[in-house]
Amino acid sequence: MKLWAGRFQKETDDRVNSFNTSLPFDNRMYAHDIEGSIAHAKMLAATGIIEASDTEKIITGLLSIKNDIENGTLTMDNDAEDIHMFIEAELTARIGDAGKRLHTARSRNDQVAVDIRLYLRDEIDSLLSLLRDLIEVLLSKSEEFSDAIMPGYTHLQRAQPITFGHHLMAYVSMLLRDIDRLCDCKKRMNVMPLGSGALAGTTYPIDRSVTCSLLKFDSVCSNSLDGVSDRDFCIELASAISITMMHLSRFSEEIILWCSWEFRFIELDDGFTTGSSIMPQKKNADVTELIRGKTGRVFGDTIALLTVMKGLPLAYNKDMQEDKEAIFDAVDTLKECLVTFIPMLDTITVKRDNMRLAAAKGFINATDLADYLTKKGMPFRDAYKISGSLVGLCVKNDTVLEALSLETLKEYSDLFAEDVYDAIALETCVRTRVSEGGPSPDSVLRQIQLAKTELEKYK
Ligand code: ARG
Repeated sequence: MKLWAGRFQKETDDRVNSFNTSLPFDNRMYAHDIEGSIAHAKMLAATGIIEASDTEKIITGLLSIKNDIENGTLTMDNDAEDIHMFIEAELTARIGDAGKRLHTARSRNDQVAVDIRLYLRDEIDSLLSLLRDLIEVLLSKSEEFSDAIMPGYTHLQRAQPITFGHHLMAYVSMLLRDIDRLCDCKKRMNVMPLGSGALAGTTYPIDRSVTCSLLKFDSVCSNSLDGVSDRDFCIELASAISITMMHLSRFSEEIILWCSWEFRFIELDDGFTTGSSIMPQKKNADVTELIRGKTGRVFGDTIALLTVMKGLPLAYNKDMQEDKEAIFDAVDTLKECLVTFIPMLDTITVKRDNMRLAAAKGFINATDLADYLTKKGMPFRDAYKISGSLVGLCVKNDTVLEALSLETLKEYSDLFAEDVYDAIALETCVRTRVSEGGPSPDSVLRQIQLAKTELEKYK
């Protein structure tokens, strides 16, 4: 028998029951539902809406339900409409009338709204902690390889010399923004909807500040219609997660390239790769490919949430029950990606020599050659042209800029002198790129320091 059965003359059709129920996916919020109900019950007693003795029974009952769910003695009855109904029915079965008083001055609409916020608030904390772990790994690798020269790319063509540490620190910048976005999202999520009732508040003398402080919210939502129909915080979180996934996906793509025989910049630990059922030589970077693939799925979650909400009149509509699978999937996916990606990254072997070899090809010091002439007084555009002609000459003769004789160089400009060879040596090109944020080992070490300070703010 449904809790709301009074108005009906017929049992709900079984097909509706199984179509309607959210228990299979909202059961994960049981602890947060209980936390919210305990706060609500305390508020009801504090304002004299129900007896303190009833609240005591409610709290004991709810805690015993929590305990029994956790030790496996209470299994969720799939007939229940959702986790809220399941717990309330179970509570009443255990403690009788006091259980029936719990839902005074509350609706499932404000109840579910508070539960999702409580649940996601905790999930954001675990995501933040994983992102911090990932940054720590990147910081230590960046430090270790702050002087490992590699080619930097644009258009996936070798462009200018950088270091592996510099490259990794780019991801630290992205991840720090991701952390900041999650914190920002948590701030707006941390507003309490309880007390909004079904949509129009309540006539009981509730005190929302009591539940607000018991549940550690920063404030209460200021409009009851918005309180029960706002899912912006889910959309915001899914969007923030999508951006993080996009970063992980770009990183994964690079790792896949770096592991290929064409690059050979890094090698993944055997424990983080897979083989082929037919090709004995294969060592595949499946983890990163899966992350790249799962990114599409998380984008789908974000679009699903936006689309569910876009046509809904105020206030609550059952469409909103569809919020959970999407946002839970986004959170779960990012979490499991990070849990695997972090140790995978931590155990990579970096092949400095291969990076250095790749950097020696592709004329990545051609800009430095132009800069050399510019620093001797030639306008940059003219210097650029000369450097370009010299690259052309090298391509024709299958050689590199630093192998050209001074005589040949002087045919193009008499500003060339013996010191050009040092100026275009890759080590010099990297060491002298000291501009803030640049690839020189000193600059990378400074970036690491700044990132450490930034990270402290989020601990
Ligand atoms: N299971 C529902 C959900 O997730 C809870 C709220 C139900 N409210 C209602 N008026 N039917 O949205």
